[in-house]
Amino acid sequence: MRHHKQLLSSSVSTNRRPTILYLVCAVSIFSLLLFAIQSSFFSGSFGSDRDAETIRILSQFQSTVQQCVANRGLGLTAHIIDHCKLILKYPEGTNSTWYNAQFKKFEPLEYNYDMCETILLWEQYRNMTTVLTREYLDARPDGWLDYAPQRIAQLGTKKCYNKTLCEEHLNILLPAKPPFRPRQFRTCAVVGNSGDLLKTEFGEEIDSHDAVFRDNEAPVNEKYAKYVGLKRDFRLVVRGAARNMVPILNGSDTEVLIIKSVTHREINAVIKTIPNPVYLFQGIVLRRGAKGTGMKSIELALSMCDIVDIYGFTVDPGYTEWTRYFSAPRKGHNPLQGRAYYQLLECLGVLRIHSPMRSARKEDWSDVPSREMISQAHAAALHLKKSQAGDLGQFGNCKVWGNVDPNKSGPISGSPDMSDVRKFSKYSKWEVMPFSSLRKEAQDHYMQMQGVTLYKMDGNKLDDLVCVRHSLKSEV
Ligand SMILES: *[C@@H]1O[C@H](CO)[C@@H](O)[C@H](O)[C@H]1NC(C)=O
Ligand SMILES: *[C@@H]1O[C@H](CO)[C@@H](O)[C@H](O)[C@H]1NC(C)=O
Ligand SMILES: *[C@@H]1O[C@H](CO)[C@@H](O)[C@H](O)[C@H]1NC(C)=O
Ligand SMILES: *[C@@H]1O[C@H](CO)[C@@H](O)[C@H](O)[C@H]1NC(C)=O
Ligand SMILES: *[C@@H]1O[C@H](CO)[C@@H](O)[C@H](O)[C@H]1NC(C)=O
Repeated sequence: MRHHKQLLSSSVSTNRRPTILYLVCAVSIFSLLLFAIQSSFFSGSFGSDRDAETIRILSQFQSTVQQCVANRGLGLTAHIIDHCKLILKYPEGTNSTWYNAQFKKFEPLEYNYDMCETILLWEQYRNMTTVLTREYLDARPDGWLDYAPQRIAQLGTKKCYNKTLCEEHLNILLPAKPPFRPRQFRTCAVVGNSGDLLKTEFGEEIDSHDAVFRDNEAPVNEKYAKYVGLKRDFRLVVRGAARNMVPILNGSDTEVLIIKSVTHREINAVIKTIPNPVYLFQGIVLRRGAKGTGMKSIELALSMCDIVDIYGFTVDPGYTEWTRYFSAPRKGHNPLQGRAYYQLLECLGVLRIHSPMRSARKEDWSDVPSREMISQAHAAALHLKKSQAGDLGQFGNCKVWGNVDPNKSGPISGSPDMSDVRKFSKYSKWEVMPFSSLRKEAQDHYMQMQGVTLYKMDGNKLDDLVCVRHSLKSEV
């Protein structure tokens, strides 16, 4: 009934509509104007609100990192300078045993870090490819002319004017596209060579990982099984060790070798006799001080694993000599510096440290920041950087773009005369692995990245990337 009345009354007032309409229009225009003014005010202050929020997130994250270092650092302490900068200090009275003869001083007891830069750097590795591929050389400006020859020793030339000649040297370890992908494995163990490993029996724990990464000539056999395990998936080797590959491999035909530096005729001759897949590490820092194989193994592992557990890295604060689990001590380098940096990385969620000092622990990572917190801090660090250096999108660091012709799958690595030695091996397993057999997380990541593969260009910074676009159709 009431309904009807209302309808009636509205129909009665029809003759007054024009005036009301004008009024309504005027009011709406006025309120729209008011709203526009207000919201422009709002967005003005919104920017600085966002900046304040960024600083707040980072400062909170710094406190979490500080607490984490206090809990896990075996005496190390974190001193916060601002929302990005912090200092890690060893306790007073720590003996610095490593003497730098060149600068005539002992290793310092405190280290400055930029947490924001560090988190940007290492989170980026999770999305990177760290194996040298043909698509990278093709995409990189002067990749074949300037860069390829730097990865080949004994060629007797600084440039590859004759590309065929360079290809002959590289094809043997050059896959067309990345054989390994981000998120390919859930858990990975990176095993260093420290003598510390003999103080614990991490063998079984190491073997329970989805993939195990080892360094150089580390032996894997019954003698050391209970300390370092028997599983072998990846081995990062420097050029010197690469010459002794056959005894290093000792009968394992599936362990993937990643050569850290350069290839040359001798190594290539050996590669032809073994069934194992062999590749070159991509992110090498050319003609600069080596940063130790350990760091590179972590980069390699992080480019394909969700969780990276490290064993046998020298993290013992009472450290006095550079020990190895399988041979006499050698001359080492910067133990305190390395130890502090690994601790920072653990508290940034990059890796998890396992050492004799913690062997009695129960696996408790609750004081390490969560993935959610780390992504938040990462987004904040990125925002901070953006406002300093213009806009950066998802591919904001891509300086060079390449495209892969979806019609051509490209050759897998190897040379024609290797067909015999590789006939019965799983050599090409990784290179021809169908997309559908990848772990779901790796597939999801690939889709989120729109089929783009990221490579580092040069140096230690990850600001300049080479990005190669693949057709999503060719994979799925
Ligand atoms: C440091 O070295 C000195 C001299 O070698 C020694 O007396 C002292 O006990 C050492 N301190 C620690 C904490 O190891
Ligand atoms: C380039 O190298 C290949 C392989 O060694 C050789 O056969 C060819 O003659 C070279 N080409 C030139 C122009 O030197
Ligand atoms: C090679 O492996 C065999 C069995 O797998 C083992 O008995 C032997 O000790 C290993 N040799 C070396 C040098 O590690
Ligand atoms: C790939 O092949 C299809 C049909 O075979 C053709 O239509 C297309 O142009 C090719 N794409 C490229 C990039 O060559
Ligand atoms: C890494 O990839 C994920 C998608 O899997 C994306 O959400 C994230 O922003 C990327 N991180 C960086 C640092 O590129």
